[in-house]
Amino acid sequence: MTLLTDRVDAALIQGSPGLRAISNYAVGYDNIDLAAAAARGIPVGNTPDVLTDATADLTWALLLAAARKLPEAVEAVRRGDWLTWEPGEYLGAAVQGATLGIIGMGRIGRAVARRASGFDMEILGSGGSGAGTEQPLETLLERSDFVSLHCPLTPETYHLIDDAALSRMRSSAILINTARGPIVDHDALRRALVAGEIAGAALDVTDPEPLPSDDPLLAAPNLIVAPHIGSATRVARERMADLAVDNLLAALDGRPMPHQVAG
Ligand code: DGY
Repeated sequence: MTLLTDRVDAALIQGSPGLRAISNYAVGYDNIDLAAAAARGIPVGNTPDVLTDATADLTWALLLAAARKLPEAVEAVRRGDWLTWEPGEYLGAAVQGATLGIIGMGRIGRAVARRASGFDMEILGSGGSGAGTEQPLETLLERSDFVSLHCPLTPETYHLIDDAALSRMRSSAILINTARGPIVDHDALRRALVAGEIAGAALDVTDPEPLPSDDPLLAAPNLIVAPHIGSATRVARERMADLAVDNLLAALDGRPMPHQVAG
């Protein structure tokens, strides 16, 4: 049984002659070399569905916190900088009626879209079917007030959000990433935040993880970083554990895993 922080590459798989099954305690499985596992006939399992709502909720927590500058406002109170009520302080972005671009309209992307209906948002989707209108990525980036990432990390999505993508976004736009860190080119993101090319970013995932406290990205303005807590509710983590154990027991018993992604 592996965590998303365990790199299960070809060398590890080939060097483990007794390995019979890999059960990932995560829905994402970019940490596992599926081809190497399949070559040995080793089944690989993941934990879909049970963390969808928790991750969609956290996406919204980050979106709202970034839109309304919540971390810096709360920090100002702690510092003793709340001196009076200021008409022009901590002015954020309106969420109601805004346009939300969702890259990766899978289970989590669609759950994020469902929550957006309470804010009368226009949804632009890219990658997968679901709520909202499927758009070319360029159009989504250019039209969205908020861009939220929910695609898996693959060779195709590595650094999907790079200099070119960020320069297409509105200067008032906010980027949210609760998917995988390497989907965003951090150097490009730092440049875009410093130059004011976009208004802010909120990340639950980074590259690398954990992000060292002296990483240059952390010096960028209008940035929120959380330590990969998208699925961190008690209920989600317990259900992930149940699925991961079910997957492992099935494989060791010679049955297909209930949630098998390869092998
Ligand atoms: C996953 O499961 O892939 C999340 O990133 C962690 O819960």
